Amino acid sequence: MAGRGNFSSRLGFIAAAAGSAVGLGNIWKFPFEVGGGGGAAFVLIYLAFCFVLCYPVMVAEITIGRATHLNAAGAFSKLGFSRFRFIGILGVIAGIMILSFYNVVAGWALGYFIEMVMGNFAIGSQFGTFITNVFKVGAYGIVFMAATAFIVSRGVSQGIEKASKILMPTLIVIILSLTIYGLTLPNGSDGIAFYLVPDFSKITFEVVYNALGQAFFSLSLGMGALITYGSYLSREENIVTSAALITLADVGIAFLAGLMIFPFVFYQGLEPTGGAGLIFVTLPGVFESLGGAWGTIVGSLFFLLLSFAALTSTVSLLEVPVAYLVDEHKMKRGKAVWGMAGLIFLLGIPSLLANGYSEFFSSFITYFGAESSNSFMDLVEHISSDSFLPLGGFLIAVFVAYVWRKENWMAEIENGAPGFSETFLAKYLDFTLRYICPVILGAIFVLTVLSRFFGVNFFG
Ligand code: PHE
Repeated sequence: MAGRGNFSSRLGFIAAAAGSAVGLGNIWKFPFEVGGGGGAAFVLIYLAFCFVLCYPVMVAEITIGRATHLNAAGAFSKLGFSRFRFIGILGVIAGIMILSFYNVVAGWALGYFIEMVMGNFAIGSQFGTFITNVFKVGAYGIVFMAATAFIVSRGVSQGIEKASKILMPTLIVIILSLTIYGLTLPNGSDGIAFYLVPDFSKITFEVVYNALGQAFFSLSLGMGALITYGSYLSREENIVTSAALITLADVGIAFLAGLMIFPFVFYQGLEPTGGAGLIFVTLPGVFESLGGAWGTIVGSLFFLLLSFAALTSTVSLLEVPVAYLVDEHKMKRGKAVWGMAGLIFLLGIPSLLANGYSEFFSSFITYFGAESSNSFMDLVEHISSDSFLPLGGFLIAVFVAYVWRKENWMAEIENGAPGFSETFLAKYLDFTLRYICPVILGAIFVLTVLSRFFGVNFFG
């Protein structure tokens, strides 16, 4: 595809797509969702969702993208079903919403890197004050958004692909080392027990839908990010194995992040239910315990790599609306990139203020029948990541199974995987996309909206 750009190699695509998947969702969000969702029970449900429901949706998204070489909305038109463009447009909107709050948290990560470089380990206990310093944190947010825009403006293979290939492996090494260290600490095993021994009485409907939202968010699914990345993938590549590698990398790193964090939480006598501040409160003390120079080195490296992991995700979030503007509205890439980045930063300002600085945005809304209020940032997250992504996944599964149809999507996969349609996996994908994904995703979506926003609960 002349002019649109392509990934230069299979590894490049996998690194970029895994880079999109692996981010704050794995290292920041997954542990606090586990902590708030009762531990191992949440982990089990999450894993089941990833492999049973999300993997087929991922294959579907990449296939739609590669078949059309177009953005999330244009892809549906090119396949001949313009009426389904709205799925892609919903994705563009979800991407804009997610990036608006994601960039705020990425700004925290970048800020923590600077604090670690300066040896300020006390920052862990001052997290609450740190995030209300909105001018400082906002400035980190501007730097982060600008870095994202810079990479996206350089295009697919020079920007996105190059950055991902180096950063991902380094991150894994440092998390692994920290995990091993955590296992040697007193009370570390209590953390492991919390994380790995399920207590099924902790499973409520809320735990189930949070796990589903988390699975979609973490795998970058349901909003066309992988349609868009798939659109830069060449016909020779094997979509099914690539998707499997991306899923394994993402789930593996989330799992490791949990293994790393809970021993540290229990060792320091902190609460696993600490919420969105969990890693920011917990880790600085751990780095301090490493002593002097080591603490500074490991601490800075950790938050630097966390920032990079976030960067390969923000890049994919920004790429979705940018590809849409470039393909559909014939906008110049540079103009689309910087315009969108500026707009999304502005849309993120209420989220920036929603962590204690502004009373109004911090307790922005109380849903029907709820006891406590939610911040503006929570609201955006609940709508985009917990509702729109599973909805997008539902629509994509229905589209692929019933509108585009089996012979067509199979044929596209066969391009890079001759003989695939005869395999067991092909039958499994066909079955899940046809029956399991629509039913489960559809049901959970409806029940989530009813219970979360309207206080209508069928499960007590
Ligand atoms: N998967 C990313 C993460 O875990 C976030 C993301 C969601 C990126 C949706 C792109 C699309 O951090």
